[in-house]
Amino acid sequence: MRKTIIAGNWKMYKTIAEAIELANGLKRELFDLNPQLIEIVICPAFTALSEVRDVISDSNLQLGAQDVFWEDEGAFTGEVSCLMLKDIGCRFVIIGHSERRQYFAETNEVVNKKARTVLRHGLIPIVCVGETLSEREKGLTFKVLEDHIYNGLKQISKEDILRVIIAYEPVWAIGTGRTATAEQAQEAQSYIRSLLAKMYDKQTAQQVRIQYGGSVKPENISELVSQPDVDGALVGLASLNLESFVKIVKRASQVRK
Ligand code: PGA
Repeated sequence: MRKTIIAGNWKMYKTIAEAIELANGLKRELFDLNPQLIEIVICPAFTALSEVRDVISDSNLQLGAQDVFWEDEGAFTGEVSCLMLKDIGCRFVIIGHSERRQYFAETNEVVNKKARTVLRHGLIPIVCVGETLSEREKGLTFKVLEDHIYNGLKQISKEDILRVIIAYEPVWAIGTGRTATAEQAQEAQSYIRSLLAKMYDKQTAQQVRIQYGGSVKPENISELVSQPDVDGALVGLASLNLESFVKIVKRASQVRK
């Protein structure tokens, strides 16, 4: 049984005051959801992590960061380490989001270094993979997934892979309002699971959680998480709004498979 996990990626939105307000709202609206049935993670900007941690410390919400650097400390101006994220109370870290790959030139090698560092520190990486529109149109979706999975998750032990969350995020569906159909998500995610089975074994692959991300909204969450290989969602824009994120989480929690 893979527990459903919904994560909100707040990206570069929300002042501290706005982040506190949203976190308070989520805590109030979602308090009765059983953390044994669904995991809820919110990933504010670095600047709001501390205040959001204080708001959610006694709730069923968990804290995540949107990125991290792979060194523990040093002269790396502008970067933040796993030690710092642990210190501030983060448990999850998004790694290799397509916006980081696109605007900050993150390669699979960088993703791999970051993911392994996160695991070494006992944190949980949410590793993002997925093809662009032109790659999909050229029929390269599976090839891109192979590249992202084989290289991004290289040298991760069988024990550690069980702690990794993979987020399948087709780049053409992110922030565009254009969601992959539930069938497209399922097809890609079952392929990802088959790659994990080759890298590890079938039983291990069956235990790894794979989220879908890309224009997830209250209207499509139920159908997406009803798919056998869709174990939750990484939500961008719709996680910035209290009502829509609450609906997404509640609807996801009602799906029984
Ligand atoms: P979106 O973003 O939900 O706004 O498409 C998803 C993401 O970037 O993780």
